Amino acid sequence: MCYTIPGKVIDIKQGFAVIDYFGEPRKARNDFFDLSCGDYVYAQGGFVVQKVSMEDALSSMEAWRELFFELKKIDNRLSRVDRPGEKVGTKVKRILNKAQNGLPVSRDEALVLLDITDEAEKGLLFRTANSVRQKVLSNACCVHGIIEFSNFCRNDCLYCGIRKSNNEISRYRMAPDEILASVKEAVDLGFKALVLQSGEDYHYTTEIIEGLVTKIRKEFPVLIFLSVGERDAGFYRRMFDAGARGVLLRFESSNRKIYSDMKPGNSFNDRVDHLSFLSKLGFLIATGGLLGLPGQTRQDMIEDIFLAKSFGTEMYSFGPFIPHSNTPLKDQKIISSDEAIKFIAVARLIVPDGKILVTTALETIDRGMRRLGLLSGANSFMLNVTPVKYRKQYEIYQGRAGIEEELKIQIEEALALLKELGRAPTDLGVS
Ligand code: 5AD
Repeated sequence: MCYTIPGKVIDIKQGFAVIDYFGEPRKARNDFFDLSCGDYVYAQGGFVVQKVSMEDALSSMEAWRELFFELKKIDNRLSRVDRPGEKVGTKVKRILNKAQNGLPVSRDEALVLLDITDEAEKGLLFRTANSVRQKVLSNACCVHGIIEFSNFCRNDCLYCGIRKSNNEISRYRMAPDEILASVKEAVDLGFKALVLQSGEDYHYTTEIIEGLVTKIRKEFPVLIFLSVGERDAGFYRRMFDAGARGVLLRFESSNRKIYSDMKPGNSFNDRVDHLSFLSKLGFLIATGGLLGLPGQTRQDMIEDIFLAKSFGTEMYSFGPFIPHSNTPLKDQKIISSDEAIKFIAVARLIVPDGKILVTTALETIDRGMRRLGLLSGANSFMLNVTPVKYRKQYEIYQGRAGIEEELKIQIEEALALLKELGRAPTDLGVS
């Protein structure tokens, strides 16, 4: 985002650049540029996304230098685990100690953690997750922008407000030029990674989306994620060739029965095959599911994390299901924000090096959750870059957080929070 830090290329090997950030080397894939040692670049999501002049890089680095170390100090301070004298059961303590020491957490242990109800134990779980995040990934926080360019959808998922059979919402499609204008606005404001999302809308043919991706890559230094649902292999190959490098596609639930109940006409196996294929093609995978679907157990939730992990996922996107009044699930209960934060913390202990999102849905059920999520293992979130006039119509559920807020305001709020928590809006990848 706005102040992503430039770094200096200090080594190049097999498609990777090693980039120095104030003495810290990080690796990033270089698919797009002709680079030499000594060049200055911006990297995002583990990819080099822009080459910059030495002059621009040095002035930006100068502005960053002091803040870079100051933020780390704040994060270190906020990531302490110990609270002497606090009473925590031995079983929970033992599991958290293990996780703190870098040992893997099993399904059974994860379940014990997700079952915690005691306040002191919860606190220790959250602090441990935060500390593991800090130890493994330092204070980088990834802030992507999302453009929701169409709310037409051919699917009829029971949980979703933009399902085909909801006749009460007005539908919109952004023209490619409008989408490009939104990309430009976001890039001008500093975004280095954007998600282009829509319902499964075949009005946008392979050629149209390919044209869009090609243009964006040509004109803007930004990492492109597509979130357009299940398309065929040829579609995704062409998108990769055009320069898209990420796909956001949730599997929604690892429980097959829930999946097929929720998504009539869709197959769980197809979804999983899609994700495996996309991962093999070389896309960064962002995936996850819904928390609180009818019939979902805590075991299912743990399984969700392990399933996501199995795709070599880059970004874990799990958020509470929020009932929409014009869907068959309108009377379903929402899980508590507390349960959702426990889930984030447990996910962090299962995938210490993953990017874990605080989703807009979680912020919708409680506006304080971006902060609490980031202090409990999460290290990324997204801002809504869709033109304000369309945002309300992308009504997957009602009352979404932040849909009235101009992008500039969203950015100001995000930066203020990141500063307070000692997080740098950088996305340097892990060396
Ligand atoms: N509540 C929360 N998230 C939802 N999504 C769809 N409907 C809802 C809802 N009612 C999520 C799905 C989908 C993503 C684009 O939006 O998980 O993958």
